[in-house]
Amino acid sequence: MVLSEFVEKACNQIDLTTEALQQVAAHFEVAMREGLAGRPSSLQMLPSYIARPTGAERGEAIAIDFGGTNVRVMKVNLADSQAQCSQSIKFTLKDPGGAYDYTREETQADELFDFIARHVVEVLAGDRSMLPLGLTFSFPCRQEGINRAVLIQWTKEIRTSGVEGRDVTPLLAAALERQGVRNVRPRAVINDTVGTLLAAAYKLRGVEVGSICGTGHNTCYLEPRHPLTGKPMIVNMEAGSFDGVTLTPFDRAVNEASVRPGGQLLEKMVSGAYLGEVVLAVLRTMVAERLLPAGNRSWDRGTLTGVHLSQVLEDGADCGGTKSVAQTELGLMGLTNEQLLGFRRVVESVAGRSARLVGATYAAILRYLDPGLSQEHVVAIDGSLYAHMPRYPDGIRAGLEAVLGTGASRVTTSLIKDGSGIGAAIAALVADAQG
Ligand code: GLC
Repeated sequence: MVLSEFVEKACNQIDLTTEALQQVAAHFEVAMREGLAGRPSSLQMLPSYIARPTGAERGEAIAIDFGGTNVRVMKVNLADSQAQCSQSIKFTLKDPGGAYDYTREETQADELFDFIARHVVEVLAGDRSMLPLGLTFSFPCRQEGINRAVLIQWTKEIRTSGVEGRDVTPLLAAALERQGVRNVRPRAVINDTVGTLLAAAYKLRGVEVGSICGTGHNTCYLEPRHPLTGKPMIVNMEAGSFDGVTLTPFDRAVNEASVRPGGQLLEKMVSGAYLGEVVLAVLRTMVAERLLPAGNRSWDRGTLTGVHLSQVLEDGADCGGTKSVAQTELGLMGLTNEQLLGFRRVVESVAGRSARLVGATYAAILRYLDPGLSQEHVVAIDGSLYAHMPRYPDGIRAGLEAVLGTGASRVTTSLIKDGSGIGAAIAALVADAQG
């Protein structure tokens, strides 16, 4: 097969037609209903025990944003629909120099939470006032109350022992106690998507959906009548585990090589942690078909990050960015213009599919909430893909339009920065007010 033919065929497999996107949305809506009713579904539809804030919440809270190997502890002040962060410390659980690693299996839960609690002490800087604490813990949790979240399973390559199957609040509370912190009480645990929705709804009207399009992917929405309470409640869908999209041979290769084959199938097609892996799977086939030379570097997991893909997507007519990524990251020297264009076309396909798929899932949620699209809707989004990847928001819009047609004009997507931190503070204050 010649190069242009291969690229055409591969991209046709990856790109999704309007009908395919409509089908994804239809399956997604069925999975939502099934999951919510407690029937088997790839969408876990986890209750959060929190609804939308009123905007009148005020006061000071400590927020911890634990979404992966980077953690942030903040002191946040909320008043009149405005959130202000007065202190903030960002740290990593895994020292790049190898000095420590709290994400390894050999590390025990207490060591991990002590490390986090020490940073709370630092942020407090001697402040002894009583402060509620909100924890954004962005892993699938079985939530049994606003302050009870049992980790179902670690994701994002974290393996610390003794956390899976346990409620994270007592783990954190005990660590704070060991550090001598008596004035800070953990009050709420939320997912980062929930934090994004809370932070957006604190200052904007009409926000019903919160989503992360970054290293991971997930979405939550405000269920108007939750089956558990009959009242409005935000539902963490764990959308990354949706399994209703047909896998291409490249997705199958990525899935098989992943830490948990069969799990997080949508996330493996959509999120920043995996887009580079899908591109590499296509490139590997091209090398096997002798359409590309073998690179002089090994293509390990993580060789192509979202930043590299963005560099390719930003390229002008000269393919300078694509060439630089091919040489520096992949060790592919002396590629012809046709090969560079082929590489770029593959990246465009993989990134475009990600955004359109995400858009189709938002469309499914909005159609479920408002079948006639008779109202205006806001989808609050955080994450590096949405914030930085060229044309990603346009791709989401294309996905919305494929499913909702002209109804998509009633939907706005809005970038919400730091929602996971601010949302944790809002959740802490909401919980505190509830007593
Ligand atoms: C993963 C987690 C999910 C989180 C998402 C974004 O999919 O399972 O809980 O919301 O990443 O960080």
